[in-house]
Amino acid sequence: MLEKINALKAEIDQLAASNAADVEALRIKYLSKKGAVSELMNEFRTLSPEEKRELGAPLNELKNYATERINALREALANNESEVSDLDMSRTASPIKLGTRHPLSVVRNEIVSIFSRLGYSIAEGPEIEDDWHVFSSLNFAADHPARDMQDTFFIQRNPDVLLRTHTSSVQSRVMEKTQPPVRIICPGRVYRNEAISARAHCFFHQVEALYVDENVSFADLKQTLLYFAQEMFGPETKIRLRPSYFPFTEPSAEMDISCNLCGGKGCSFCKHTGWVEILGCGMVDPNVLDACGIDSKKYTGFALGMGVERITNLKYQVKDLRMFSENDTRFLEEFTAAH
Ligand code: DAH
Repeated sequence: MLEKINALKAEIDQLAASNAADVEALRIKYLSKKGAVSELMNEFRTLSPEEKRELGAPLNELKNYATERINALREALANNESEVSDLDMSRTASPIKLGTRHPLSVVRNEIVSIFSRLGYSIAEGPEIEDDWHVFSSLNFAADHPARDMQDTFFIQRNPDVLLRTHTSSVQSRVMEKTQPPVRIICPGRVYRNEAISARAHCFFHQVEALYVDENVSFADLKQTLLYFAQEMFGPETKIRLRPSYFPFTEPSAEMDISCNLCGGKGCSFCKHTGWVEILGCGMVDPNVLDACGIDSKKYTGFALGMGVERITNLKYQVKDLRMFSENDTRFLEEFTAAH
């Protein structure tokens, strides 16, 4: 019987099939109730206990082997067939669906492009920062509330490693390395420890601009702001500056633009004031220049910083900040026409 088993195994080794009917014939020949393997099984039942002990394992192996081989033949045929039927070289290619730029990227690119027309170049810095670049070099007092755990995500204390809370850190990084004239625009992501809601998120995007040279004045700042506002929101746009406070600028201001929804007449969006706030700005505090190795007696500068989400909301009336990071393609596809 062992010889029969081996002979059958050698036979099964050589099996080949060119279509599904062949495979089925082989299955019947070897594995059906009356097939060659089953017949050996029947014979096995008549053997003496010693013979059974000796032949049980090889016979089982044969059965498994035959089953595997025939299944493998069937699979090989199936794969082949699908390859052949799918391959139609004359078929028109299916159109590739083009993605759309994220609205925040659209607006960031537009801001950067407006400033690059004024000669600003892009500067970037790390999102994981140290205390010096985010706070100390920018004239934040040691007890300034922004350093508090409430606002800042600290990764490590003493020495402090943190997620930057604003892109102003890029200002100090660039000034440390470059003597004036400095004219940079710094787009980037920033992080704050805020509860997530329709109006606040734990991360958002800013664009910072910095211009340092001899004789840079507040008038230069104001003209730059007006140019930016009119390029961004249309030639009818008016601006107004309100006094404000930032540790790194003196004097500091906040800029409003005339509400582009109601044209300044007053609506619910601008809370019936006709104005909406869009950015912070001011003349770089001499302490900041000196801290970054720039002679504050010789040079002056202005800086401004804005939230990209805020500008995007103004342009496209997105009501819920969370939509920007939910990856809902129905929302993103609404910006197909924006570039
Ligand atoms: N860093 C400020 C913030 O995150 C924004 C800002 C205000 C940046 C005034 C500036 C500036 O450069 O001059 O709220």
